[in-house]
Amino acid sequence: MSKSRFARIAGTGSYLPALRLSNQDLVDRLAKEGVETSDDWIKTRSGISARHFAAPDELTSDLAVKAAQGAMMEAQWNADDIELIILATSTPDHLGGFPSTACVIQDKLGLRNGCAAFDVQAVCAGFSYALSTADAFIRAGMYQKILVIGAEVFSRILDFKDRGTCVLFGDGAGAVALEASDQAGILASALHADGSQRDILCVPGRATCGGIEGVPFLRMDGQSVFKLAVKVLEQVAHEVLQKANMQPEQIDWLVPHQANIRIMEGTARKMGMSMDRVIVTVHEHGNTSAASIPLALDHGIRSGQIKRGQHILLEGVGGGFAWGAVVLRY
Ligand code: UT7
Repeated sequence: MSKSRFARIAGTGSYLPALRLSNQDLVDRLAKEGVETSDDWIKTRSGISARHFAAPDELTSDLAVKAAQGAMMEAQWNADDIELIILATSTPDHLGGFPSTACVIQDKLGLRNGCAAFDVQAVCAGFSYALSTADAFIRAGMYQKILVIGAEVFSRILDFKDRGTCVLFGDGAGAVALEASDQAGILASALHADGSQRDILCVPGRATCGGIEGVPFLRMDGQSVFKLAVKVLEQVAHEVLQKANMQPEQIDWLVPHQANIRIMEGTARKMGMSMDRVIVTVHEHGNTSAASIPLALDHGIRSGQIKRGQHILLEGVGGGFAWGAVVLRY
């Protein structure tokens, strides 16, 4: 293996379902169910103004395919050259993720080349996990071209009677076409998990012989998640920068998981970065879990903010508890 073999982003893409609900749209919808909330509460506590929800017949794989097609077009890839599809998701098309949604995506993309395909389950840290997995495959010389996708339909696991969670999440997909290159590339990544904290953000229900035992909706202890997220994001940012032998001031853009503007502001402040070096999409997308980082990355690139040659720090955190960060040169 050549020492100069990097995994480099050749293209990005993203997709949001057509249905956009402003906070007020959601407030009105919830009021009909007797659930009280307000645009002001949602905006002040989370920074969210709107989110997109998938249509009833739209699956995670459908969102993912649209994002992937955008990334493939940008990268000018021949579909048959794709050797691996990695999908980060916690809302797979099928119960238990069986078959993997990555296999469904392969079929829906019309790929008949037998490329490998699998899902990664690390909730909101999923894209960081998927990207560093793809990086490792490329560095090892096993593959040249990998589609890395984050896609979710969290609206399907929201309890619209639980105002503490249902106002925060949305649906969407983002994708990266990652290819082997002698130019940098992903420079370093760091992944962590703490399973002892699994109950603070989870879907407690289980499939049982044709039924579901327990709650089939997302449950979150928001304050515990908030505190832990702020702590581990700072730690992992410093860790990954150290691995890449870089200082925070060398980072042009922070592309954080889009869960809460206050968490993003806290992370940026601790890194000594001003908010005009942070890509923010949470106001329009809400929290799209594994899709949030690639959605924000694609937005940053397509809006002209992120430019070739710039250094980017991506970081995600969520259920598991799992978290991770990646530093790359775009
Ligand atoms: O993607 C994985 C990572 N996830 C996250 O990072 C999320 C982390 N957590 C958070 O972002 C925040 O904790 C929340 C946005 C979820 C909540 O903000 P908070 O400032 O921690 O609020 P809180 O949970 O302490 O609730 C404050 C009050 C409570 O009322 P009382 O007990 O003070 O009377 C809640 O009942 O706000 C009430 N409340 C609401 N009020 C209106 C909770 N949800 C709502 C709502 N509308 N939707």
